[in-house]
Amino acid sequence: MDCLDGPARLMIVSDLDHTMVDHHDSENTSLLRFNALWESLYRHDSLLVFSTGRSPTLYKQLRKEKPMLTPDITIMSVGSEITYGNLMVPDNGWVDLLNQNWDKSVILEETSKFPQLTAQAATEQRPHKISYYVDKEHAQEVIRSLSDAFQRRGLDVKIIYSGGMDLDILPQGAGKGQALAYLLSKFKAESKLPVNTLVCGDSGNDAELFSIPDVYGVMVSNAQEELLQWHAENAKDNKKIIHATQRCAAGIIEAIGHFGLGPNASPRDGLDLLSCKTDNSTPANIVVNFFIAYERWLRAEVEKSESFIQSLKGILEPTGVAVHASGVEHSLHECIELLGPCYGDKQGKVFRVWLDRVFASKIGSDVWLVKFDKRELTDDGQNCCLTTVLLYSKHGNPGSFSLVHLHQTWLEGFAAKTQSPRLF
Ligand code: GLC
Ligand code: MG
Repeated sequence: MDCLDGPARLMIVSDLDHTMVDHHDSENTSLLRFNALWESLYRHDSLLVFSTGRSPTLYKQLRKEKPMLTPDITIMSVGSEITYGNLMVPDNGWVDLLNQNWDKSVILEETSKFPQLTAQAATEQRPHKISYYVDKEHAQEVIRSLSDAFQRRGLDVKIIYSGGMDLDILPQGAGKGQALAYLLSKFKAESKLPVNTLVCGDSGNDAELFSIPDVYGVMVSNAQEELLQWHAENAKDNKKIIHATQRCAAGIIEAIGHFGLGPNASPRDGLDLLSCKTDNSTPANIVVNFFIAYERWLRAEVEKSESFIQSLKGILEPTGVAVHASGVEHSLHECIELLGPCYGDKQGKVFRVWLDRVFASKIGSDVWLVKFDKRELTDDGQNCCLTTVLLYSKHGNPGSFSLVHLHQTWLEGFAAKTQSPRLF
């Protein structure tokens, strides 16, 4: 919570499956576009919150499979677990609140009387969440009878149906919306209420997010019937909620633009990544663009030209040095020369590079230190390097930088042992 000094410029609270993450796009195009936008323009003064139905186990699995960012806050298990930061430190105040008036054993006793309910996997049964599958035809009738049964037993619980198959039972005070309301009240108490909040979702368990006062909302184009129906019945006149025309993360980017919440052109949409002549570059922007250019060269997604190599060199100081995680050291210009013949090496292979947790700090009148996790998705899984980069602003021109030093250390992944030394 204390990662920002003041209120966040924008807080995005997004569901994962079929919202931030498009399971029908094996290239993860819109997710990578979002990542680049977030890291180059928002990470330093905004907050990213993931709000998922998944348990911590399944959430961590998704992060291994997909090119995802590290959120500032993670809300899991349909708003019944809240953790902070990369280390996922749990919010114990939230746990205490949910413990009030919650008795799992009575709920299980009642649900056992319903043969239409099939228990979900053990990982998805959580301290404040009991989950089943029930098919669409029986859902409404089961939910009605369950509510009656719980009422008879004096239980104040919440039943949520999502994705036309999942039925979750939570304490009345839990849920994605309640978890967001709890976070907002904590921010308010610290005088750090975000300037704008955008909630993003596609299914039934996201509906609550859209009923929190004063937030903007986007239902992605591929939203489920149950969410669209909830919206039609409960929020159709709310101008702060849109049904995007685009799928998943592209719908989130669309909403940022629609509501004027900030810039929404992703560096990945630009063709000329390396023309850092413009006066509005930032150190974060430069490193994000540099690694997209690097990925495109290896994937043969840019023209194989000497001018591309020259423009890569153009942002690197000739005397600069790169220390790769394997310990290999090269001059930065030497790295680019060695990169030249690797054009297309990753064509047709799984290979994506994205930067995560990019933080830039000014450490001298014209020197910036940028730290980030450089993540790669490859045929062998993911790996991650903690990377530190020094940048000079050129000739006192604040919008133009050159990279003087790059240093990497392995954080995660196979690469230390098996990967031949690479350049960046
Ligand atoms: C996720 C969870 C599941 C839950 C569903 C809907 O898929 O793994 O337990 O029922 O979200 O909330
Ligand atoms: Mg979803």
